[in-house]
Amino acid sequence: MAKIWEGRFKKELDAEADRFNASISFDRRLFKHDVRSGLAHLKALKKAGIISAREAAQLTSGMKKVAKKEAAIDWPAYEDVHSAVEGELVKLTGDLGKKLHTGRSRNDLVATDTRMYMKEEMDNVKAGIRKLMASLVELAEKSQHIYMPGYTHLQHAQVVCAGQWLMAYFAMFKRDCDLFDFAQARADRLTLGCGALAGSNYPLDRTLIARETGFKNVAENSMDAVADRDFMLDFLYASSVCAAHLSRLAEELIIYGSNEFGFIEIDDAFATGSSIMPHKKNPDIPELIRGKTGKYFGGLMAGLTMMKGLPLAYNKDMQEDKVLMFSRLDELKETLSIAAKFMRNITIKQETINRQMADEFMYAVDIADYLVGKGLPFRESHRVVGSMVGYCVENNKRFTGLTLDELRSFSPKFAGAKERMEFMKLINPAESAAAKLTAGSTSPSSVKRQIAFGKKWLGKVKR
Ligand code: ARG
Repeated sequence: MAKIWEGRFKKELDAEADRFNASISFDRRLFKHDVRSGLAHLKALKKAGIISAREAAQLTSGMKKVAKKEAAIDWPAYEDVHSAVEGELVKLTGDLGKKLHTGRSRNDLVATDTRMYMKEEMDNVKAGIRKLMASLVELAEKSQHIYMPGYTHLQHAQVVCAGQWLMAYFAMFKRDCDLFDFAQARADRLTLGCGALAGSNYPLDRTLIARETGFKNVAENSMDAVADRDFMLDFLYASSVCAAHLSRLAEELIIYGSNEFGFIEIDDAFATGSSIMPHKKNPDIPELIRGKTGKYFGGLMAGLTMMKGLPLAYNKDMQEDKVLMFSRLDELKETLSIAAKFMRNITIKQETINRQMADEFMYAVDIADYLVGKGLPFRESHRVVGSMVGYCVENNKRFTGLTLDELRSFSPKFAGAKERMEFMKLINPAESAAAKLTAGSTSPSSVKRQIAFGKKWLGKVKR
């Protein structure tokens, strides 16, 4: 097919070069958006008096017809979505259609279409994140009676509520929503009206175009506008952070589902078997979620590297932005959906968790804090409890196995039977959790508040 730019050329583009140059195989996704920006541009052309009201009506009705023939277009014949939409309009309206591209360039057009597409799609990503958050809250609510070890350095640290663990991920994914909000806000700038780079020779009302295409703002500098792909980088960064969060969750699900931990049971419908080992039940789903993470980081690096050396304004390098964005977008939406389903179908197993809960050293901080209550400075009580732990390890004892005399040997604060009783009471998951007083802590009341807040937040943002 003839090129929209063929005028100055004496030869046809080499077939292989043509294929290499074309973006139609992937940018045809922007069809709907290219039509919309085309319709908005027609309004601006009419308002500026470049086309008559009659012409505008004919072209607008032609464009609306183009919108309906997406399935019938011979896509591979075109270089990109912009020439396709224009070409189809010319087919329907003849020479009149050739006026469409007055005062615009594919440079301002592609940025406009892509920004529109991304703003829309990031809504879908956020909806996917919220679905996952909803299954986390649901599970947290169901697991309010479950206590488990909390880890630092993957070593037993302190007792936490299972709900606190789950709501930690809720908090991460909520931040991801913020990141996508930010990326959307930064994409919310109209580029059309900037022409190739210098602006347009026609007094196109960019505020009108912005209104028609759903943009809140109008990009303030024409050269920057056509050269800017920050919104793409923002998306790739937000996706990378979200993928990292998904990967951390996946990693914990894999570890917690192992024989060694046995904290969770994956539903059969979300686990796979082995071709040789009949007994296997493998966590392929979280492994794949974890395994895909590198592609997000790679995409972000590719995007940053693509942009870093580009002279102003437009360069064809930037055509690659869509390849990076579409692939991450598709995979992220798919991953979020399966992650939400997966979480809704795991069982938290208190019995196996309890095997680890037998480790009474997880109450060491509670004991140190108890001694603080008895008047010891914390650094001192830390040392006292540390030597109790050392003694227990050496003598193969647990905290609850310590006699009053033994307790007294560590500190005179363990004065008598009453203190030993108080000490014994500390060695209990519910007591330990309930003793946490700070906002956001793992105390059951705090977890309850987090769950309530989470549900309210989800209810509010759901449109
Ligand atoms: N397919 C191109 C892209 O995605 C559209 C813009 C082409 N502009 C140009 N000056 N060749 O970037």
